[in-house]
Amino acid sequence: MTRSNVVGIEVVLSDGAILTDLRGLPKNNAGYDLKQIFIGSEGTLGVVTKALLKLSRRPAGTASVLLALNHLNSALVVMEALERACCHSLLALEIMWNRYFEKVSTALSAETPPLPPGHPVYLLAQVEGMDSSEQAVDSLVGALEGIDDIIDSALATTPVQERRLWSIRDGSDVIERAHKHVLSFDVSMRPHKYAAYIADVEARLKARISDAVAYYFGHLADGNIHFMIGHDGSLSDATRLIEECVYDALASYEPSSISAEHGIGREKAAHLWRSRSTAEIAAMNRIRAALDPAGILNPHISYEPKSLDAQYASAR
Ligand code: LAC
Ligand code: ZN
Repeated sequence: MTRSNVVGIEVVLSDGAILTDLRGLPKNNAGYDLKQIFIGSEGTLGVVTKALLKLSRRPAGTASVLLALNHLNSALVVMEALERACCHSLLALEIMWNRYFEKVSTALSAETPPLPPGHPVYLLAQVEGMDSSEQAVDSLVGALEGIDDIIDSALATTPVQERRLWSIRDGSDVIERAHKHVLSFDVSMRPHKYAAYIADVEARLKARISDAVAYYFGHLADGNIHFMIGHDGSLSDATRLIEECVYDALASYEPSSISAEHGIGREKAAHLWRSRSTAEIAAMNRIRAALDPAGILNPHISYEPKSLDAQYASAR
């Protein structure tokens, strides 16, 4: 995450004071880690004018593999094997459920998709090799050897082949264009809970918005999944209904979050209480009031605790 790659910032506070820590010390526990309070604060606490970022060595070589699987449990078996065997050389482990894979892979491919659509779940893993891409291939193949859950696979050993596999995972704009309206979500929970959660959301959507089509994909190793939900706009309150389907279900899969990586902004501010306790929201507002007593920074964003309406709805 960006948060863990920022080693220093300069920020201008609401009274004009400039707070600077651009020393980039890897360890500094002399009091509060102030930069972390500003990262993710979305301009509510100050204006960041400089950032010092951690650089990583470019991998000598990488390899990727696309796997077809029957269910989430198999994806978890593969994840465990890759994490155990490849450890820090596992650069990414992404999941796509079939509706997403099918839509994007068939829309993108001038040629045949690297694997046929129709399997329930697809995993895309990328590994780095210390000295070469051959090493990356060896460690991928070694880690996956003997896993019976893998139904089909496509290995990419050159940058061109890798780009072809990754274009499917990175092709979510295909979904944007496939429906008149599309809502995007960015939820977080323990990876093993996703099968039940997705079934729960599907059932809620089916009962309330007949034309909604949901696509699921995301960062399995991080426990972070994106939903894109398309609809044709025939219901005037479709946005509210869809948000309720996705967010109401979350409460049963704790620990969970309404925003794994995209932040809160204006769109999710009214839902913040679903992922932060009343005490946390109160602390956020107290920090905000202390740093911006006149309320001049992003005044249109407010962090509200759970409303009475919401308390009533969840008690029902
Ligand atoms: C992604 C962006 C949407 O994972 O976070 O594709
Ligand atoms: Zn993402």
